[in-house]
Amino acid sequence: MCGIVGYIGDKNATPIILGGLKKLEYRGYDSAGIAVIEDGCIELRRDVGKLTNLETLVKEEPLSGTIGIGHTRWATHGAPSAKNAHPHVGETGKVVIVHNGIVENYLELKEELEAEGAKFNSETDTETIVHLIERNLGSTGTLEEAVRQSLLRIKGAHGIVVISSLEPDKIIAARIGNAGGVVIGYGEGENFVASDIPALMEYTRRMSFLESHQMAIVTKEDVHIKTLDGKEINPRVDTIAWDPVAAEKGNYRHFMQKEIHEQVRSLTDTLSGRVDFEKNQINLMTLNLTAEKARAIQKIVITACGTAYHAGLVGKTMIEEMSRIPVEVDIASEFRYRDPIIDEKTCVISISQSGETADTLAAMDEARKKGAMVLSIVNAIGSQAMRVADGYISMQVGPEIGVASTKAFTAPLVDLYMLAIYLGDLRGTLSEEKKFQYVHDLRIIPELAGECIRREESVKKVAEAIKDIRNILYLGRGINMPIAYEGALKLKEISYIHAEAYPAGEMKHGPIALIDKEMPVLAIMPKDQWYEKMLSQVEQAKARGGMLILVASDGDENAKNLGDHILWIPDAPWLLMPVFTSIPLQMLAYHIAAIRGLDVDQPRNLAKSVTVE
Ligand code: F6R
Repeated sequence: MCGIVGYIGDKNATPIILGGLKKLEYRGYDSAGIAVIEDGCIELRRDVGKLTNLETLVKEEPLSGTIGIGHTRWATHGAPSAKNAHPHVGETGKVVIVHNGIVENYLELKEELEAEGAKFNSETDTETIVHLIERNLGSTGTLEEAVRQSLLRIKGAHGIVVISSLEPDKIIAARIGNAGGVVIGYGEGENFVASDIPALMEYTRRMSFLESHQMAIVTKEDVHIKTLDGKEINPRVDTIAWDPVAAEKGNYRHFMQKEIHEQVRSLTDTLSGRVDFEKNQINLMTLNLTAEKARAIQKIVITACGTAYHAGLVGKTMIEEMSRIPVEVDIASEFRYRDPIIDEKTCVISISQSGETADTLAAMDEARKKGAMVLSIVNAIGSQAMRVADGYISMQVGPEIGVASTKAFTAPLVDLYMLAIYLGDLRGTLSEEKKFQYVHDLRIIPELAGECIRREESVKKVAEAIKDIRNILYLGRGINMPIAYEGALKLKEISYIHAEAYPAGEMKHGPIALIDKEMPVLAIMPKDQWYEKMLSQVEQAKARGGMLILVASDGDENAKNLGDHILWIPDAPWLLMPVFTSIPLQMLAYHIAAIRGLDVDQPRNLAKSVTVE
């Protein structure tokens, strides 16, 4: 949830930047920093903890200048500390950067830079970017070109803002993928950049938004936006209404679409502060779990409702695979009335976006009464489900406004995956080698999610083609079986199309009777250990004349031959695959509902927070 603010004009940048960062505080952070160019030199102040600490530091050691950048950080590479906080200055002390995202190839780049003599001052991946820019500045001569060349070297999704004392009349901002937005704010004789609209609302309402692979060269009089290959873009400047909720919607037609797109960022934020790639560690401190407590757990029961329940079903496979603790998953409204068999050796985990769902809270009460350890995975900070638990994982996805849950579905998938590693580690069931692989695999999540989202246009074409269907059957197997449930739920709740989901292996026990040419079948068949089984299921459906919509791995020839429509997904480790199979299904449901002209964000009969039984 890192926040970025930058200013260039005639005023003192420091209070403007600190004020902007304050508006982003609600997103969470563990350290903060600011850099301004003062008398031709870069001055830097950074501190851990809340912004008030940074403000106190700035009072004690003032800094002022008319150009500057600031940042609030959630740690990914390196612990929260002043030296790991952004902004990061290079070795020459003449370039300084703030960054949102994860440099996926940072180990490789760091090695290369160190071999060339670079000295690193922090444990962050971000520092590699500033070293690259400095080196490229030497060879290209301009900051703009140096940033461009450097961005071509880093992998992953990023938002970055750079200033240099060598060219103190400009801020360079860039965006690759969706690790966070980059907003440009237009003032009179001054301009701004930020990661989010609220940071700038006090100073200007005129804003434009960088698309992926675009960079902005911002001076106090002008803004030039270019693609990373140098093509000048005529930016659309929007005037943002004061309503902060509407402001949050930005350029999107619906919140649901915005929230689908936000997943690169929300998934980056999910990892932030929890994964230490350097030390190969998962830190879930808010769970309050010790190795002793983790070893005492004999059974886990996950309880939740709706979409959150589907996340729990995926979590079962993850936790059993990595920690070898048996896991049951129960619909909260059933669990609470069933006199469940749980005791003090059971750990009950509730998953809830709102943290206020009546059935989920009642299930937590029931678990507590029976002496179980009660944990929660919750989005709404300070909600009941967070407060009453013995420990929690905060989803860190920010407010979810669309009634149909999207980013609050993929985030708990990753939380459960991290929890599985954490439990496996505490209980000693994971070898170092496996742990390394599982932790390492987390790195690619934001980029692969971005790749899925970039395919929206082709998903929209499928939506156009099938928008008039009246029924549909979703099939999945193994870890993607719950994604069939979730995909069907998304479709029915916002498009009102009857969608049923089944574990594919159950087809032969009854539902196959439904299939004829009037009943389309959507099958989730990535290349994983269930692929062959799914394939034979799909062939059977084909033989019965049903229209086939397949979610398939890139390059799958069988899918190409069989499917009427295909939602292609990139290859990914099987335990994380549900994150990527779910995104096209969210987009499919969204576009079908949007094409049908329905109220996507507030579907009939549904509430965002179900606080009644
Ligand atoms: C569906 C959806 C609901 C919720 C369910 C639980 O898109 O959003 O099924 O998942 O009502 O809500 P929370 O997660 O707030 O407990």
